[in-house]
Amino acid sequence: MVELSELFLRRGLAVTVVVVVPPAASTDASSAVARAVEANPSINFHMLPLPPPNTVPPAAVEQDQGQEPPHNPFALLRQSNAPLRDYLRSALQSASVCALVLDIFCVDALDVAADLGVPAYLFYTSGASSLAVSLHMPQKQAEVNASFGDIGDAPLCFPGVPAFRPTELPVNALDRDNQVYRVFLSAFERVPACRGMLVNTFEWLEPRVVAALRDGACVPGRPTPPVYCVGPLVSGGGEVQDKKHACLVWLDAQPENSVVFLCFGSMGSFSKRQLEAIATGLEMSGQRFL
Ligand SMILES: *[C@@H]1O[C@H](CO)[C@@H](O)[C@H](O)[C@H]1NC(C)=O
Repeated sequence: MVELSELFLRRGLAVTVVVVVPPAASTDASSAVARAVEANPSINFHMLPLPPPNTVPPAAVEQDQGQEPPHNPFALLRQSNAPLRDYLRSALQSASVCALVLDIFCVDALDVAADLGVPAYLFYTSGASSLAVSLHMPQKQAEVNASFGDIGDAPLCFPGVPAFRPTELPVNALDRDNQVYRVFLSAFERVPACRGMLVNTFEWLEPRVVAALRDGACVPGRPTPPVYCVGPLVSGGGEVQDKKHACLVWLDAQPENSVVFLCFGSMGSFSKRQLEAIATGLEMSGQRFL
């Protein structure tokens, strides 16, 4: 979000990043926010404290029980709609707010944007392929009418991306009753209500899937919001670093275009067997890798 803010700043827009502070914010999260604030003096940060859970009206708590998995970030962020609405309402008295840009976890703030008549955009921090699959998932799930984990190994076809096996889906998506999967399905069902989708990619990287999104193939029966390829936005870590990371020093010393880079995402994990297979494959390829 900070990298996107810098992009907006370069285009002459003023940016406020609204940070939701959960009652039991971890020290890791708090210090990451503190570092981002310190490293980006030109961005305005607004902290939005959430009430502790016992002050949330009982109805909301009851509704969340049983239906929502524990630590559901969507539910937590939904609670911030009221303070967000108050904050935006007061901000609107002194300035015009041209847009609200939401992370997927904050998609329920679409209600706040609608209340206040402010256009809302999605900022999708991953690439267009993952967005396209996620947007098509509710439709595919309804078509398949079974858990993806129970339908065998025949390749699945999603618009704009190469066919893939059901087992290549995130593990939560293999069980249609999985609570985490269900909240993601509902979140992506809301996305087409956004005014536009800002995707952390660039056209040359994913031309086919960007075209599929723009043609409306991923969300049949509903208009797909415009797609804006705003990437690559890569975090510098939000830290002022005077010392280059050892990996970067090594990378700089390699010939141009000679290094294979593997990135498994912030929550990527593999079984020991898979990791060994990857390591062996890399080793045998004879390529430099990071
Ligand atoms: C989905 O499958 C169930 C049986 O598992 C069946 O009763 C139902 O009619 C199916 N729905 C559709 C839309 O095909």
